[in-house]
Amino acid sequence: MREVAVIGVGMNKWGELWEKSHRTIWTEAALKAIDEAKVDRVDAMVVGCMSGGLFVGQEHLGALLAEQLGMGPIPGTRVESACASGGLAFRQAYLAVASGMHDIVLATGVEKMTDVDGGAATFALSTAADQEYEGFHGVTFPGLYAMMARVHMQRYGTTREQLAQVAVKNHAHGSLNPNAQFPMKVTAQQVMSSAMVADPMRLLDCSPVTDGAAAAVLVPLEWARKRSSGPFIRVAASAHATDTIALHDREDMAFLGSTAKAAEQAYKQAHIGPSDLSFCEAHDCFTISEVMVIEALGIAERGQGGKLTASGYTALDGKIPVNPSGGLKSKGHPVGATGVAQVFEVVEQLRGACGARQVKNARWALTQNMGGTGASTVIHLFERV
Ligand code: COA
Repeated sequence: MREVAVIGVGMNKWGELWEKSHRTIWTEAALKAIDEAKVDRVDAMVVGCMSGGLFVGQEHLGALLAEQLGMGPIPGTRVESACASGGLAFRQAYLAVASGMHDIVLATGVEKMTDVDGGAATFALSTAADQEYEGFHGVTFPGLYAMMARVHMQRYGTTREQLAQVAVKNHAHGSLNPNAQFPMKVTAQQVMSSAMVADPMRLLDCSPVTDGAAAAVLVPLEWARKRSSGPFIRVAASAHATDTIALHDREDMAFLGSTAKAAEQAYKQAHIGPSDLSFCEAHDCFTISEVMVIEALGIAERGQGGKLTASGYTALDGKIPVNPSGGLKSKGHPVGATGVAQVFEVVEQLRGACGARQVKNARWALTQNMGGTGASTVIHLFERV
């Protein structure tokens, strides 16, 4: 396998983008990444999108968006793994370059979720759960994560305040990110008194419904070295794991097995452990998700994610900052784009280009992107070399 580097990234400001179409949002991000990479061709393109059909009535995105790129009849592949579609698109692009199949590959993610009403968006998202055993009975994603939160609270004593601290931290980080959908700071009191969505998950515990896209250009590291003097952002590991899709089939509803498995593989590939991380971008689709993710990544001990968050360990000035971008909570969560936007943040951070939200002396970074209630997880590790 060849070593792989990311040489260009692009994204747009996320939010409710009424004035732009699905393909326009995607094209903006893709062209930014290509411009930044200073390449005059890409050999292949991968797009992660969860549900073009249900959100905008458009499937066949590999061909549509390859055409949109205007770089000839290149292979255009659409991949889907619910909210982990973007992470999986990046992984497929990585595998194409690492294997020697292609030299310059564009990894992208896109979702336009606000053209449908709230009920239709909730239904589209619910198709990532087990339709026969969960969706059919009316369970929504806030509802599923609420159940996970209840188990975590009961078993480990995780408190309402600790969950709120995830939102407080991520909105504080997001207030420093010009691309964030909800860049306002919030207090724990505001989180705990916001509208109830699915007890105990309130409005400010939830990631929003978002329109957005992100893109990255991947090439062989040796190829990048011949073109410039660096520093380079090396993809140090790529791992993907799955778990039961229905929550009730899990051995433990309060633990993210697919994240733990993918993390174990990724650390092994890169010969590092969680304590080596400078920071990470984690899938905080709900406040409880980040608490459980940092436990599965080995940043926090099992059951201690809430306590560790409340201690400031994962804040921008803490030992291992989690979600310096503002995460899904503040930056937004256009489901198919999120995994690639995590790579955008990592590359900008490792380049030292993040201004007020810069993580000091960043060298190693991890992205964790998950689908459903953790039925799929994609993890990448990056190193500045
Ligand atoms: N965080 C902060 N503010 C939010 C928000 C969020 N997640 N979602 C909406 N808002 C704001 C809106 O801007 C609006 O503010 P305004 O009154 O000042 O204009 C207000 O809250 C109400 O917005 P609205 O769009 O009517 O909210 P909603 O009730 O339709 O939807 C949720 C709120 C939480 C139900 C919706 O965002 C949701 O379903 N989120 C979860 C998405 C999801 O499941 N993703 C997949 C994860 S696995």
